[in-house]
Amino acid sequence: MTTSPSLPLTSKLQIPQMGFGTYRLRDAERAVAHALQVGYRHLDSADIYDSHKPIARALAGSGLAREDVFITSKLWSHSVSAKRVGPTVQRFLDELETDYIDLLLIHWPANTPAAETLAAMDAARRAGQVRALGVSNFDIDLVQEALDSGIEFSNNQIEYNLNHQPAELLQFCLEREITVTAYSPLERGSREQETVLAQLAEKYNATREQVLLNWLMHKGMIVIPASSNPAHIESNFKAQDWNIEPADADALDAA
Ligand SMILES: NC(=O)c1ccc[n+]([C@@H]2O[C@H](COP(=O)([O-])OP(=O)(O)OC[C@H]3O[C@@H](n4cnc5c(N)ncnc54)[C@H](OP(=O)(O)O)[C@@H]3O)[C@@H](O)[C@H]2O)c1
Repeated sequence: MTTSPSLPLTSKLQIPQMGFGTYRLRDAERAVAHALQVGYRHLDSADIYDSHKPIARALAGSGLAREDVFITSKLWSHSVSAKRVGPTVQRFLDELETDYIDLLLIHWPANTPAAETLAAMDAARRAGQVRALGVSNFDIDLVQEALDSGIEFSNNQIEYNLNHQPAELLQFCLEREITVTAYSPLERGSREQETVLAQLAEKYNATREQVLLNWLMHKGMIVIPASSNPAHIESNFKAQDWNIEPADADALDAA
């Protein structure tokens, strides 16, 4: 039976380590409904994915309570000024048919300083509309700048896969109690990396994608694979059923 581990996000909130990505899904409502049925309890959305409304419909049809599912969304760069954050959060709540978002991120670094956006997001947190704050696509300097604002945030969502392994950024965040979510986790790697991956998939009797997800979770990250294919949605979720041996994780790092 697949169990879904969680990581501490704030002193009061846990984040399921396996989430479901909702970017570019074919029939998003059906894919999210299937993910919820399979057991995913963390949905990753964003303003520009247009996935708030399909998520609301899938959740309503699932029979699950709102508090059973962790929902992330992201402010696009046109909505990050102090004036825009409040009305945008209210629109997200309306689209998602909920009265709170678990985790709200700044989607990309923008011209508006992160401190200004985080202060406006903090007001939404104090109003109970948002439970935790975070950033996305922030490098070490930008994370440090955001930390300098003094406003508590606890997640950085970054690309992390075979091709793109910002290990220093990961360590920097984890050392500062900022959880890291790996997006686009299933990207193909080099021929050498794919050879090591195929060997590990055979060893663990797992799919290539399950090994990748297990490897990233072993490194302490949250993963948010996306799929519109029911069989992929199911098999990706089962990546949590076993643990990669540290030496094999190191072999993938080094490949
Ligand atoms: N913060 C950001 O800037 C940012 C940027 C990009 C993405 N994201 C988030 O991260 C999520 C995941 O990233 P992503 O969508 O770019 O890429 P991904 O999850 O790494 O890959 C998705 C692709 O892999 C295929 N796939 C999934 N499971 C598979 C399996 N078991 N076997 C074979 N193919 C499989 C899917 O096709 P099928 O549908 O056919 O399965 C789809 O084409 C997004 O949905 C979004 O929520 C965030």
